[in-house]
Amino acid sequence: MPKPILAYLEQFRTPADINRHHFTRVAEIIENLLSIAREKRREPIPDAITIARKFRDIGAPMEAYKLLKAESDYYGDNNSIEKWRCRFFAYGVVNIGHPTESIRLELEAHVRVLRKSDQLMCFLPLFLNFIGNIEHVYKERYDRAEQLYSDAQQLIKKITSKNKFKSTTGLDYDLAVNMIMNNYVELLTHIDRNKLQDKDLVTMLRVLARRTRQNEYGHLLFRINMARADISRGDLTNASAIVDEIIKYTPDKYSRHSLPAVNKIKALIHTEKGEITEGVRYALDAFSNSAYYGNSLEETDILFTLLNIFKELSKDIKKNAKIDFFRNSGLIDAFIRILSYKDWHLGAEHSINVAHLARLITEQLHFSESNKQLINLASLLHDVGKIMIPWYTLNKVTPLDDLDWELFRDHTIEGCRILKKLGLDAEAEIVLRHHERIDGSGYPHGITNPSIKAQIIALSDVFDAATSTGRRYRDAKSTREMVSEIERKEGHRFHPTVVKGLKKAISFL
Ligand SMILES: [Fe+2]
Ligand SMILES: [Fe+2]
Repeated sequence: MPKPILAYLEQFRTPADINRHHFTRVAEIIENLLSIAREKRREPIPDAITIARKFRDIGAPMEAYKLLKAESDYYGDNNSIEKWRCRFFAYGVVNIGHPTESIRLELEAHVRVLRKSDQLMCFLPLFLNFIGNIEHVYKERYDRAEQLYSDAQQLIKKITSKNKFKSTTGLDYDLAVNMIMNNYVELLTHIDRNKLQDKDLVTMLRVLARRTRQNEYGHLLFRINMARADISRGDLTNASAIVDEIIKYTPDKYSRHSLPAVNKIKALIHTEKGEITEGVRYALDAFSNSAYYGNSLEETDILFTLLNIFKELSKDIKKNAKIDFFRNSGLIDAFIRILSYKDWHLGAEHSINVAHLARLITEQLHFSESNKQLINLASLLHDVGKIMIPWYTLNKVTPLDDLDWELFRDHTIEGCRILKKLGLDAEAEIVLRHHERIDGSGYPHGITNPSIKAQIIALSDVFDAATSTGRRYRDAKSTREMVSEIERKEGHRFHPTVVKGLKKAISFL
């Protein structure tokens, strides 16, 4: 059965190739395969790794992980090589998607098992590298990541047989060494290096230049890292020359990786030169490219680069001027555009509707002008954290499982992090709390005292999500139905003052 599946999926290179008409069939294939994979009594799924890679390419990395995780469970024995090989690929795709806290803990537990086993020794550096990726890209805990990459590098060098490594892990030994080294180098370009780290960086770049010559993808990563290293050393001329080289020599099949990366580097070069308009334009382009291709890992790194650029450019200006700068340079629009591109259910329209309704409520509650403005921006960007969630998870129509929920809940924390990076601390605090309820039944922390401001957005959000036609499972509810539902929740889910404000506000909708 998987052969025709692969043949069908082969027509899509990225999530952007999938329209609403295709989506039903794609989702059917994914969910069907996952339900087969979860059955206890079955045969191994042929081509599971190839299929998982395809899922990853079309914006469903978490489903790729679920498939390979189920496949690894099939090989019951903890010492089975096949089991660990499936796990290895499972965590490879999940790191490209969005590793949640529970996944990070799973990886830590696996590392403890691997440390005790001589037979599985080849996997240990690879798993340490995965945790390094999470600490490095998603958590931005660079010290820990450096330790992990360094351990991984030491351990992999101790492996004496390249053949045994390949027959165990299914991965070419030299590629694995290059992968860890490229990650290590990338990390070093992000931090203020001391003398020793600077020396390490130069040495590793020299080694990678030689080692990756035979491998197009590895060499592409090396060149991207080389350009980043040059920027961090202030050598912008060399960085520009490398970018030109990447554009000229990268084969088309890697454009999904090279295009966002090239734009990111151009953004950094222009910003360093003080050419702000171009810097901002390239950073926004990089961000759109990566979202379009469904490269979640790259997307996260590019998003953080973009935010750092905006933070740096706006660090000395006052709050209101800062927000004007974000609006006028297209940052806020880019967030909304990418949100609607990624989330078909509740895209741009939802953000705008929630902002509109929240505005009406603040008027009914006689808020000050500055508080109205604060809520306006927070409501427009309340779901901005969804940018960091893979495309398929946002759009799936079948019931959400535990992992999907964990991902969804993270959008509050990620949204808060994005806004904090921009220096919008008050907005960030509201966004963090927009799914909290006063009886403690909400998320991410189940607090019982979310602010009135956060409750205004919470209620506007619930109201719009339920009454809009784009909703996930059911038909849209009427305003009247929704008002009576909210009235039933008044005082335990939602704050009475805010419910009163909403009831007055909807007559102006
Ligand atoms: Fe939300
Ligand atoms: Fe929302």
